[in-house]
Amino acid sequence: GLPEAFASRVVRWQKTHGRHALPWQATRDPYRVWLSEVMLQQTQVSTVLAYYERFLARWPEVAALAAAPEDEVLGLWSGLGYYSRARNLHRCAQAVVERFGGEFPRSAAQLATLPGIGRSTAAAIASFCFGERVAILDGNVKRVLTRVLGYGVDLASAPAERALWDLATELLPRQDLQDTMPAYTQGLMDLGATLCLPRKPACLLCPVEADCVGAREGEPTRYPVKTRK
Ligand code: ADE
Repeated sequence: GLPEAFASRVVRWQKTHGRHALPWQATRDPYRVWLSEVMLQQTQVSTVLAYYERFLARWPEVAALAAAPEDEVLGLWSGLGYYSRARNLHRCAQAVVERFGGEFPRSAAQLATLPGIGRSTAAAIASFCFGERVAILDGNVKRVLTRVLGYGVDLASAPAERALWDLATELLPRQDLQDTMPAYTQGLMDLGATLCLPRKPACLLCPVEADCVGAREGEPTRYPVKTRK
């Protein structure tokens, strides 16, 4: 059915056409993956690269970051913007040391109890590092999924958020999770960032075009439907 075909197409496409050269993809160390995901929350990849390397050179593990003075963390963050992220990053490192003995918890549910880690970031870390079967749902992924599913409910409406999390969960891979979950999560991010673009989606190159209601209707940019809140 759709769920299995969709997930396996995303995984196969990611392995051949997705992004592979990013430094945080070469590791399953949750400290490195967490650091990259927090930086990437509101900042583009090209900007994050240098900051990511500088943070890791200065603080190679979570306990070192936890022990740093907050001023120094904010100093190295300078230029990335959204400074509450830097303060939460520091608090999160301290919480990992104090509550978890310096080891990041291995489930998305526990990760989401930490400062600065919302549901989607928790799922990204748990799927990349531990192969957990959990859905991410950021703005790019909402665009991909609403188009594929032909989901026309206004995203500003209360039930839409809940419904999309449930639909995102139904579409997850069901097999070989240690291998497929990292590629699936990265594949959804890559589809949203490189093909399923807001104004000009490249449906001709898309691995799930055959499954996509938006493409079949001939007007994928109808989705997502968003009115003002
Ligand atoms: N944006 C958020 N997470 C990302 C990742 N793992 N790779 C590329 N862009 C991202």
